[in-house]
Amino acid sequence: MRIFKEKRSVTYRPELVENNIELSVRHLKQFFKFGHGKNAFITKAVHDVSFDIKKGECFGVVGESGCGKTTTGRSLIRLYNITSGSVYFKGYRISAGKRWNEKEIKWSRIKGNRKIKELKVEQADRIKALNDEVSDQALLAREIEKVNKEYAKKIADIKKHIADVKKEQKEIIKQITYDTRHVDKKLMSKMQMIFQDPVDSLDPRMTVEDIIQEGLHIQGHYNRFENSQKVKDALVKVGLLPEYSSRYPHEFSGGQRQRIGIARALIMNPDFLICDEPISALDVSIRAQIINLLNNLKEEMGLTIMFIAHDLSVVKYFCDRIAVMYFGKIVELATSDELFKHPLHPYTRALLSAIPKPDPYTEKKRQRYVYNPSQEHDYSKEAPSLVEIVPGHFVMANSEEIAKYKKELKKD
Ligand SMILES: Nc1ncnc2c1ncn2[C@@H]1O[C@H](COP(=O)(O)OP(=O)(O)OP(=O)(O)O)[C@@H](O)[C@H]1O
Ligand SMILES: [Mg+2]
Repeated sequence: MRIFKEKRSVTYRPELVENNIELSVRHLKQFFKFGHGKNAFITKAVHDVSFDIKKGECFGVVGESGCGKTTTGRSLIRLYNITSGSVYFKGYRISAGKRWNEKEIKWSRIKGNRKIKELKVEQADRIKALNDEVSDQALLAREIEKVNKEYAKKIADIKKHIADVKKEQKEIIKQITYDTRHVDKKLMSKMQMIFQDPVDSLDPRMTVEDIIQEGLHIQGHYNRFENSQKVKDALVKVGLLPEYSSRYPHEFSGGQRQRIGIARALIMNPDFLICDEPISALDVSIRAQIINLLNNLKEEMGLTIMFIAHDLSVVKYFCDRIAVMYFGKIVELATSDELFKHPLHPYTRALLSAIPKPDPYTEKKRQRYVYNPSQEHDYSKEAPSLVEIVPGHFVMANSEEIAKYKKELKKD
């Protein structure tokens, strides 16, 4: 039996590591398809999102409910097979989608076949014209042969182009399949997620100890004593008593459950933590505790964090940079200071106007600003794209809006 050895190696981009980039997301798309055939429709939960997160950075993602924040986080941690785009973690490609490449093959075939059809009609017309014009049979045969040859070459060229595109794209698809199948488990254990819902994300039939050490089992650590000790350490780290390990999730308060979720992520000793609205379900005093806890852990363990929230006030002090998402797209991305000082996109302004003020007098006067995309933008002539207006400050805009935003920035 012949054994074919694959010579491929996983796609690695050393320049990302050299530039201290822990996570790089390129044109991430995550679509969900419902139904079949003609009744099928697609939800574009995340639509072409790109960003880089530097080592040790805290990167905030904000946006209204349903804008695709959780889906982005879940796609990063490989809970979904992404539709298209690539995700690089520590330089290695851990996720990639094939939709674009498959479409490229499909469209080159459709366009090519359409062109061939047109050429065949053109060829028939020319032969018909020759039949009408040329009476000498020998000359006519020669002319027809010439035309046939000319069109046969044109058609062969198109067929070759279709085959070339197919070959090229199939090669890329093969590499994508290879990369996504050969993702290192150890590398992935360095990326952990704290899930949005502290109730739903904990199995009610498992003890806290089993919940927290599940990841260790998956990684192949079966030493019960060592695992149990690690669970206790993790519980202490998140401010819970080690004795709690034999309890079940329903025996805890909401804040404590959130801490269990954090302990479950921390036990894997991660470098990169995705926190999906870890404090939204909690009351104000416990919110502060969890934020402080995350901040301490960040300092202690040198964590890189992606912090998902739906209001800007939470991420203001905690995050170095903030991305604002709207309907599956990033509409603005800047450092926290810059975003609060010079919000450019109308949606960011609407989010900022929603933050309550602690002073009753100014709060009374606070005007809520509602974002209405159809009134704010005219994209009929030119579609927008994410543009760097000033270094580090990106905004979704077309050329007309870019000029307007630049003017506004100069005024400030
Ligand atoms: N597994 C799934 N299957 C189908 N559609 C999904 C799935 N997960 C999310 N969606 C859809 O994708 C969109 C984005 O959802 P997502 O959970 O990412 O929003 P979110 O920004 O996290 O919102 P929230 O602030 O309420 O948590 C929604 O329209 C949702 O219905
Ligand atoms: Mg969510």
